[in-house]
Amino acid sequence: MSEERKPIFKPNREFAKNARIKNMCEYQELVDWAKEDYEGFWGHWAKEKINWFEPFTQVLDESNAPFYKWFVGGKLNVSYQCIDRHLEVRKNKAAIIFEGDRGDKQIITYLELYRNVSRFANLLKNRFGIKKGDRVVLYMPMIPEAAYAMLACARLGAIHSVVFGGFSAEALRDRIIDAEAKLVITADGAYRKGKPYMLKPVVDIALEEGCDTVEKVLVVQRNHEDITWIERRDYSYNELIDLEADTCEPEVMDSEDPLFLLYTSGSTGKPKGVQHAQAGYILWAQMTMEWVFDVKENDTYWCTADIGWITGHTYIVYGPLAMGATTVMFEGVPTYPDAGRAWKMVEEYKINQFYTAPTAIRVLHKTGEHEPEKYDLSSLKVLGTVGEPIDPPAWKWYYEKIGGGRCAIVDTWWQTETGGHMVSPLPGATPIKPACATFPLPGIMAEVIERDGTPVEPGEQGLLCITKPWPSMIRTIWGDPERFKKSYFGDAKKDGKPVYFSGDGAIIDEDGYITITGRVDDVINVSGHRMGTAEIEAAIKKHPHVAEVAVVGKPDDIKGESVFAYVVLKDVEDSFGEEAELAKEINQVISKEIGNIAKCDTIKVVPGLPKTRSGKIMRRILRAIAKGEEIKQDISTLEDPSIVAKIQSCVIG
Ligand code: PRX
Repeated sequence: MSEERKPIFKPNREFAKNARIKNMCEYQELVDWAKEDYEGFWGHWAKEKINWFEPFTQVLDESNAPFYKWFVGGKLNVSYQCIDRHLEVRKNKAAIIFEGDRGDKQIITYLELYRNVSRFANLLKNRFGIKKGDRVVLYMPMIPEAAYAMLACARLGAIHSVVFGGFSAEALRDRIIDAEAKLVITADGAYRKGKPYMLKPVVDIALEEGCDTVEKVLVVQRNHEDITWIERRDYSYNELIDLEADTCEPEVMDSEDPLFLLYTSGSTGKPKGVQHAQAGYILWAQMTMEWVFDVKENDTYWCTADIGWITGHTYIVYGPLAMGATTVMFEGVPTYPDAGRAWKMVEEYKINQFYTAPTAIRVLHKTGEHEPEKYDLSSLKVLGTVGEPIDPPAWKWYYEKIGGGRCAIVDTWWQTETGGHMVSPLPGATPIKPACATFPLPGIMAEVIERDGTPVEPGEQGLLCITKPWPSMIRTIWGDPERFKKSYFGDAKKDGKPVYFSGDGAIIDEDGYITITGRVDDVINVSGHRMGTAEIEAAIKKHPHVAEVAVVGKPDDIKGESVFAYVVLKDVEDSFGEEAELAKEINQVISKEIGNIAKCDTIKVVPGLPKTRSGKIMRRILRAIAKGEEIKQDISTLEDPSIVAKIQSCVIG
């Protein structure tokens, strides 16, 4: 595959002067240091960045690979790292700036954060008996109490599992059951586009069946709409919180104790509970904030993600607070009340670093191309993107109209499993090529290789692998260590040793720049939301008329990919029904089983699926048909080659 050469944008000189990593020589020194003395490199940073209660005795334990252990024997507390250690120098600094959907605002200083988190932790401990190792599920809107709840769990050593508020009751239930949660923390609801929406009723439905481990539900009242209160199960945070003391001793945690679970989609089966550990995670969350966003003491940093995703965990809550930054938390959507909302907020808070997803950039570009001109965006220094490939036109608009041609764009590639950034430009050092994640961060051995570890030729696509363990990596899949091994260490090897394979393909060019080409497995990425086609298929199969289904991603101008489903109905009669009506029903089933985010944009009834003689569905053919492409691959190996033309006529006709 040959690529035309991309233009190169050099870092802004003025910015680079004060950046933590100022040029490519400094970058290279760090890279070389990590290559020459991997453990020395990581040990140095762990000692320098973390306030240890007790020092670690070993940097990396590889004896039970791939169940790696980092900073063995060290004792710490992540909430202490994020709050207490800042009090001496930053107690009156804004830790969180909250902006609600309807324009309501709150500024929470580090001292207030300390008190709020301590009270929250005391409430969990005293009222609900939460202790080290217990699992707590959070089903929360974007309000400061969500961050308090995460940090309160960390303070007590309880393991939180945040479930994105867009997931359905069924999806929430699956996650509660898998984690065997003792407590669910939720809110009555919150506001979106000026109107209240509800969360607690979803929790009520989730808890109707099978969640035997859940003892209590704690409800934060945000929109004060009417909800059902179940006696002796449901408790109001607002009524109880002021009864608690505002100091709470942090639990002494081991480096490798689990910090949180976050469920994510894989190519097969049910979502996986990605388990992260304490020390390695917080170290890298903090270091990447410093290196990749280069946040300075007086800066205001805004990441628009939701705390239900890893980006919200690492880059709204843990990373910014660990480094003592001011982090903005926003409840609403950037297009309400108009497509200038985000830029208005940049002007108002003098945001210095802004981090969002390509889908949001495309929407804001399309719906409010000239909105940025109305606001003063001169405070911006670094712009970030994450979650999906960004296309060159969106990149250009972001660079020119939002960044005024003076801000670096850091296109950060990483995953729920990696905990923090892996491949990304450094804003003061890396000459940037548009829509390109550029180089691995120092200490991260990201390589584009073949399955056997051979490096790919420039311009060829290969597997994006991380060939050495790194501190913030996934430790296991909750309750399923075998699946962990198989999912991540089963596909690629280097020097005969299994290495972490991300599931993404990438191209490395002649200058060594890495461009992510997207998933090579059956995971699709819709508006930066990662979804397993197998999960969506399992949901669709619950519709009584569906016999078989195959789901693929179809390129979409705004969302990156859209969900395209081919369904085969149970009997011939059914196929004469109204397709639009059936599609509506199928989407209702998906909403119920997973949530609105997984709904299909296109549902086509077809007479059969293209299968090989061994019964494997040839998804490549289905992807090509969805795109309207000519079928180039050999279809003679199909059980019924004539099915391809039939499917094509269903899709076109
Ligand atoms: O396919 C890659 C894509 O998002 C996937 C990870 O999804 P998730 O675990 O939900 O985490 C998203 C936020 C980190 C990856 O396997 N992805 C992430 N960042 C990029 C990306 N694709 C292209 N460019 C990126 N910068």
